[in-house]
Amino acid sequence: MKVKKAVIPAAGLGTRMLPATKTVPKEMLPLVDKPVLQYIIEEAVESGIEDILIVTNRAKSAMDDYFDYFPELEHRLYLTGREQQARELKAVADMANFFYVRQRETRGLGHAIARARRFIGDEPFAVLLGDDIMMSDVPVLKQLIDAAEKYNCPCVGGQYVSDEAVTAYSSTKLRKLEDRIYDVLDINEKPTPEEKLSNFAVMGRYVLTPDIFDILDATPPGRNGEIQLTDGLNTLCHARRMIAVDYDARRYDTGNLRGFLEATIDFALKNAETGEWLRDFLKEKARTL
Ligand code: G1P
Repeated sequence: MKVKKAVIPAAGLGTRMLPATKTVPKEMLPLVDKPVLQYIIEEAVESGIEDILIVTNRAKSAMDDYFDYFPELEHRLYLTGREQQARELKAVADMANFFYVRQRETRGLGHAIARARRFIGDEPFAVLLGDDIMMSDVPVLKQLIDAAEKYNCPCVGGQYVSDEAVTAYSSTKLRKLEDRIYDVLDINEKPTPEEKLSNFAVMGRYVLTPDIFDILDATPPGRNGEIQLTDGLNTLCHARRMIAVDYDARRYDTGNLRGFLEATIDFALKNAETGEWLRDFLKEKARTL
């Protein structure tokens, strides 16, 4: 199995980050000096992905503008001696081959992924959710692709989370295969405490096979009245082997304000331009709090 294509669903309304996301897509909010979406795309590219389909909606054209050249701006940077910056800006558009499709109705994550059928054709593919930003040595998607290739089957990524968090994400029934890799026996979306299968939540990264499309087309609305990817995955894992990787990463849920702030601070601390300054600033702040 070779995974060269990825789908990034980015058609949500961003209701958890209002009012900032009223007119700016949440995927375009800056995390230090880059939009959130760029981190996701860098992870995909570092994992070997070449073609990326972004599922958008009518309010999100800022995303396709960002992954394009901007000759006027690049020219201005060249004229003012900022060639390096001009080259870096242009390189963003050359990171991968970008494709776009609109999800015309907001009907859930499963419905958004189903829009990718024509683009994917008959290949395995990755899915990366824009809210889940990872800090890791080996890109998280690469960790999943390696496992999917080894077992030649679809693979979902997740981690063990708190009782409270698991009800906000998804839960799984697992059987251990090897260190950090499991067979998925059952999975459910946003379980109540009684429905919880375990504290292992699938979050943000998936390697799927094209048989998911027929399943998604036949999946009725589930939690919150939306067509849920998780419900499709549950059908898939009962029809064929599907594995889970407990990925080795610090994960940030940038879809909510606290997660977004945590990511901002941690990434700013790692940033060459801001790291040392921010460390001093935070120490000083902590002293006076
Ligand atoms: C989505 C998925 C859920 C997953 C979560 C975190 O939920 O439906 O299964 O656990 O992302 O990646 P959302 O956060 O969009 O409600």
